[in-house]
Amino acid sequence: MTARYPELRLRRLRQTEWSRRLVRETQLTPSDLIWPMFICEGENTREPIAAMPGVERLSIDLIAQAATRAAELGIPVIALFPNTPEDKRSSDGAEAFNAGNLICRATAAIKATGAPVGVLTDVALDPYTSHGHDGLIDEHANILNDETVAVLTKQAVVQADADADIIAPSDMMDGRIGAIRAALDAAGHKNVQIMSYAAKYASAFYGPFREAVGAMGRLKGDKRTYQMDPANSNEAMREIEQDLAEGADSVMVKPGLPYLDVIARTKDHFAVPTFAYQVSGEYAMVMAAVQNGWLDGEAAILESLLCFKRAGADGVLTYFAPKVAELLNS
Ligand code: PBG
Repeated sequence: MTARYPELRLRRLRQTEWSRRLVRETQLTPSDLIWPMFICEGENTREPIAAMPGVERLSIDLIAQAATRAAELGIPVIALFPNTPEDKRSSDGAEAFNAGNLICRATAAIKATGAPVGVLTDVALDPYTSHGHDGLIDEHANILNDETVAVLTKQAVVQADADADIIAPSDMMDGRIGAIRAALDAAGHKNVQIMSYAAKYASAFYGPFREAVGAMGRLKGDKRTYQMDPANSNEAMREIEQDLAEGADSVMVKPGLPYLDVIARTKDHFAVPTFAYQVSGEYAMVMAAVQNGWLDGEAAILESLLCFKRAGADGVLTYFAPKVAELLNS
């Protein structure tokens, strides 16, 4: 029989800092962080992103420096997103599999520094298409699933050829994980990981990201025929089951805080490496409140990330990564 009040006092364990530390169930460390970065052309170039105060697009030389900083801070992985120059965007998104594109050059530059960080590259066509969709479209703007998958496999292979460590398909096409695994293996990249954006929702919280990669304003329609309905959770389990069956090494739930229930379910059900993406709109919300003096930024940011761990995430993609790593290291 468990004791009851007054013998039992749950507050007893909370009386001192050492005791709270002793019984703490979850820890947040720099090893839990994945740092997403935006790349632009140029040299020694930084471009601010209006809706993401404190985040900038960086030219490749500065990305390489940031990778060294990530390693010093103990951040294990950086995630790369390009702002493709206008003249390289096209309806077929062919720049995605140009071995000289921003992502591939940035990956090579990071590897050349020797910094012990993993490089995660995003597979999807939206930073490369003139219409802003993640896939190829027909004349009625319908997404062509299987034709898109064929292009994504080429994109994944050029990224792996450039020494990317983790391929992260964020496109939500059916069947892409299996096709990408087969293409990577055929190209000799059997140890390149796949982190699948397995449960990615059609969310209003991606707005600032679309500004960052220059996809804002060009999107015809929306992404609801491929990204998931925010109302659904069972469907997320089917997506995750499918991606694991096709060979995903780890899975992601995205966005983050509004979807902690999906993270918890994923971890409970599949017990696989599970990641969360605290997306651009979540970053923007916190920063807006901080800039107004309405939130204690450091405390709110640390709490939000700890909550991902409590829900079952093994790590979090977050634009707060360098700031949080600094706080945790100090
Ligand atoms: C592209 C992609 C998106 C994000 C990551 N990869 C945007 C989208 O699907 O529209 C969003 C990340 C963020 O908002 O921080 N497929």
